[in-house]
Amino acid sequence: MRVVVTGGAGDLGSRVVAQLRERGHEAVPASRRTGVDLSTGSGLDAALRGADAVVHCADDTSAGDAVTVYGTRRLADVAAAQDVHLVHISIVGIDGHPLPYYKRKLRAEQGIAAAGGAATVLRATQFHSLAAYFARVLTKGPVAFAIGDMVIQPVDTDHVAARLADLALGARPAAYARATDLAGPDVLALVDIATLVRSHRGAPAPRVVHLPAVGAVLKAFARGANVPPAGTADTGGRTFAAWLAEQPSRLSGR
Ligand SMILES: NC(=O)c1ccc[n+]([C@@H]2O[C@H](COP(=O)([O-])OP(=O)(O)OC[C@H]3O[C@@H](n4cnc5c(N)ncnc54)[C@H](OP(=O)(O)O)[C@@H]3O)[C@@H](O)[C@H]2O)c1
Repeated sequence: MRVVVTGGAGDLGSRVVAQLRERGHEAVPASRRTGVDLSTGSGLDAALRGADAVVHCADDTSAGDAVTVYGTRRLADVAAAQDVHLVHISIVGIDGHPLPYYKRKLRAEQGIAAAGGAATVLRATQFHSLAAYFARVLTKGPVAFAIGDMVIQPVDTDHVAARLADLALGARPAAYARATDLAGPDVLALVDIATLVRSHRGAPAPRVVHLPAVGAVLKAFARGANVPPAGTADTGGRTFAAWLAEQPSRLSGR
């Protein structure tokens, strides 16, 4: 099959491209570096021509609605017009979540549904790299700040990429469909992640300072909106600890 991967040079997209190629399929990365700009639509029509599916991994969290909402809708409209199965990556727990980015991801899903083409939306939990980033942000020197009882069920990005490839290569739905949510194998307190990250670079366990969740966004995370209710998600992939063991001792980026 010929599968276009938007954001095919990004963290998730590059893994989807690798998965598709390993399985003997044609994977075509599409993003600004290949002449496709979702914020304007330039290059989009030509990029999708002749494709069986498009896996949408491109995003720009710094661009407001431009890529996340309007770019996704542009892609969904072109995919629907060309009868290309759109497979979209979204985030677990975004319904009613007050985080502005999560609101945009929900509007992106709604735009895909409104476009009316064959589409599959996969919601995943936070990737291991993002969980480690959160833990680093909430650790200052030897002190880790615990926000309420915030937990994460982080998932291995390679596992998400494999599921997206499965969806792109599998049976296409007649219209808009949601795949079963995807999460990692462990639910971890953020301070436990901070402890693992510090231990990974040879530092002792942090002293934990508990802070109340203040404001709607932190309250939503503190009540576990980002974690799928028990039994509602597929779980799998490497554990956070197994992923961390393969990272350099000094983590960087998200
Ligand atoms: N990180 C998490 O924990 C997590 C969890 C669940 C879901 N997700 C979702 O996973 C997706 C991918 O995340 P990621 O971390 O892989 O992102 P990433 O590494 O930042 O990659 C995004 C890619 O999008 C492309 N892009 C940006 N602006 C563009 C534009 N205007 N037109 C076309 N392409 C554009 C970029 O390539 P160019 O520079 O070449 O344009 C870039 O390679 C996002 O939708 C995110 O919501 C992430």
